[in-house]
Amino acid sequence: MMTMSNSKNPKPKSPLETTILDLMDTIFARWFRGPSWDCWRVLLAVLFGLHDRIDAHGIEIYRQCTGRDQLPTERIKRLDLIVGRRGGKSLIAAFVALFVAFFVDHTAYLQPGERAVVSLMAADKVQAGILLRYIKGFVKSIAALRALVVRELREGLELSNGVSIEVRSASFKMGARGFSLALAINDEVCFWESDETSAEPDVAIIGSQRPALATIPSAIQLNISSPHSRRGHLWNSYQQNWGKDTPGILVWKAASRRLPDSPGVEMNSSLDIETVRAAYEADSAAASADFAAEFRVDLESIFSREAIAACVIAGRFELPPSKTLQYFAFTDPSGGSSDSFTMAISHVDAATSRVVLDLVRERRAKFSPDEVVKEFAAVLKSYGIDRVVGDRYAAEWPVERFLVHGISYDPSPMTKSELYLAALPLVNSGRCELLDSPQLTSQLITLERRTSRGGRDSVDHAPGAHDDVANAVAGALVAVPLAVREPWSEVLRFGENKPDGDSRFWHRIN
Ligand SMILES: Nc1ncnc2c1ncn2[C@@H]1O[C@H](COP(=O)(O)OP(=O)(O)OP(=O)(O)O)[C@@H](O)[C@H]1O
Ligand SMILES: [Mg+2]
Repeated sequence: MMTMSNSKNPKPKSPLETTILDLMDTIFARWFRGPSWDCWRVLLAVLFGLHDRIDAHGIEIYRQCTGRDQLPTERIKRLDLIVGRRGGKSLIAAFVALFVAFFVDHTAYLQPGERAVVSLMAADKVQAGILLRYIKGFVKSIAALRALVVRELREGLELSNGVSIEVRSASFKMGARGFSLALAINDEVCFWESDETSAEPDVAIIGSQRPALATIPSAIQLNISSPHSRRGHLWNSYQQNWGKDTPGILVWKAASRRLPDSPGVEMNSSLDIETVRAAYEADSAAASADFAAEFRVDLESIFSREAIAACVIAGRFELPPSKTLQYFAFTDPSGGSSDSFTMAISHVDAATSRVVLDLVRERRAKFSPDEVVKEFAAVLKSYGIDRVVGDRYAAEWPVERFLVHGISYDPSPMTKSELYLAALPLVNSGRCELLDSPQLTSQLITLERRTSRGGRDSVDHAPGAHDDVANAVAGALVAVPLAVREPWSEVLRFGENKPDGDSRFWHRIN
């Protein structure tokens, strides 16, 4: 299906004149055998401006994946690649890295002693290491490439042509350092973990690479992922640029493998169809993201940034205990090996009827649970609290351990989802005051609400994200009725009926 232009170039090419497609079809052919790589060939031809290598069938693939009719007339500086799982994203990205590092001359744009960097970034260094392993695999197979490696490091390669290939984790911001990027590969960006500083780290980090990409004219930024919810860099770019001739930017969205009854482009037609079928049977919404590369429509943010911001009291980090107030507490225990152990305390302001968040405590793993219980119990006592409500799925041990320190632990009658849904009207109607904690804000706004047909909504953290702090806070905001001995069934009933907006309950208890 590809039109080969080799016949027009009978002279042997120097390595620096070789196109990425020539490499794919010659010395690296054993990696890319068979028609299952055809769609990737079209993409690489578009990315590197090899338009004479795209035939009519290739143009049709291009149209379906980009929504564009015309091939780009300008060099592509940013490729946003939304492709299903096991579609070949990482291997092709590694191959692009190999090409840019070994076969493109960047020296004209570098200062003496400066190196051109090929950055490999993923959610963590282990993930980014997959890209490096692919690259090292390519290099090992060709003696001439091995000869160009001056240093092989655990997290990179240094080449004699002035290029360094470097693995980074997605917590690394480029903006602060001055260096030149020849290529930035950002893998699985839809799953980069939010942190205290950013609820959308992919947006922040992808943006921070821009200055470093500006020195080398041929520099490319490659942002890759299977899709997830409708937020973040790839979703934004898909909205803004898919189907549009945005100069310098190409958005390519394609399934890895499709079910037989949904025809269309497949980036990896060799992927086992039974695996895909089983995934659809287990969870069709997740499978259509994973394999058909559709952003998930069943997932929404629950708390909006604006609603949270309206409840946050700027500069209020913690409120000291007052003898005249009655406090309520909620804890989300953890055994200490992976999740955080968190606790939050609240009270109702009699003058405004608002639920006020007084304190949030988090102990991150690893820790001794006994020690944390002791520490939290002391804090509870300082607020005059002798009972705490806690996650109902926690094992028996929190009940016993808190009791040792004179605190009774009531398992929450509400699930985590129910707590978030019950806290929502409080936040949306501005009937609570939150502490100034970027981490709390970040955790709340990255929560995902999943609507299921006919079933109840569920709320949980996004993949890779955490919600231990948010969980304790939602519990503390909603814990009020238990402590004032209102029947939880009332909260549950209102939560069930109108999870979004019903605040009658709060009017009543206040
Ligand atoms: N188009 C293809 N034709 C044949 N084999 C393929 C194709 N795409 C991927 N593969 C094979 O599938 C495996 C996964 O490839 P790769 O890691 O590049 O996929 P990915 O899209 O990054 O997957 P993930 O979503 O799991 O990160 C590799 O062994 C690769 O060789
Ligand atoms: Mg991958």
